[in-house]
Amino acid sequence: MNETIQTILNRRSIRAYESRQIDEHELQEILLAGEYAPTAMGQQPWHFTVLQNPDLIEKLQTLCKASFLNSDNASLREIATREDFQVFYNAPTLVIISGNSKAIAPLQDCVLSMANMLLAATSLGIGSCWVHSPMMVYGSADGAASLSNIGIDFPKGYEPYAAAVFGYSAQPLPKAGPRNSDTVTMIR
Ligand SMILES: Cc1cc2nc3c(=O)[nH]c(=O)nc-3n(C[C@H](O)[C@H](O)[C@H](O)COP(=O)(O)O)c2cc1C
Repeated sequence: MNETIQTILNRRSIRAYESRQIDEHELQEILLAGEYAPTAMGQQPWHFTVLQNPDLIEKLQTLCKASFLNSDNASLREIATREDFQVFYNAPTLVIISGNSKAIAPLQDCVLSMANMLLAATSLGIGSCWVHSPMMVYGSADGAASLSNIGIDFPKGYEPYAAAVFGYSAQPLPKAGPRNSDTVTMIR
């Protein structure tokens, strides 16, 4: 198995992080990997918002908690009442990829870009975890305004489609769950 496929198989969602910030050069490499994802008609309709200010990440966590508590999903409401509720796992870096909502396929473009970034991080020994709550906040009533109020603005006409935290892992590498069977149909 080659190194790239091994990296893909080794990537796991990490949910405990060291407080030290990731290396700046490695962050730039991760972002570069994100910029080299395929996009519909090569539009590259994305913008990368990198948050490394702990106070700002904490403010966003507060908004996430409110959107969980206001959700009509009972499990989300229950999670948000837990004392250790922590959507970003104290990771030092959060990246939100927003996309031009008028592009051909902004959701797919941004998600593929984030997938590249998660794999690039794994290859560099940096842990990561997709976090969905920034998109939930944005989608809630007055969500865009609440984000703007705390200083998170996206380019005009752009919406957040993908978000993930990055940092050095402070936990043993989780085991991959079993893969579903019967997921391939060969037509030859
Ligand atoms: C669309 C999407 C949303 C996710 N949202 C979250 C999230 O909000 N918080 C979280 O801890 N993990 C989240 N995850 C990570 C999944 O829980 C994780 O990928 C899955 O359990 C498989 O584990 P693995 O990534 O270690 O292989 C999300 C993954 C995807 C693809």
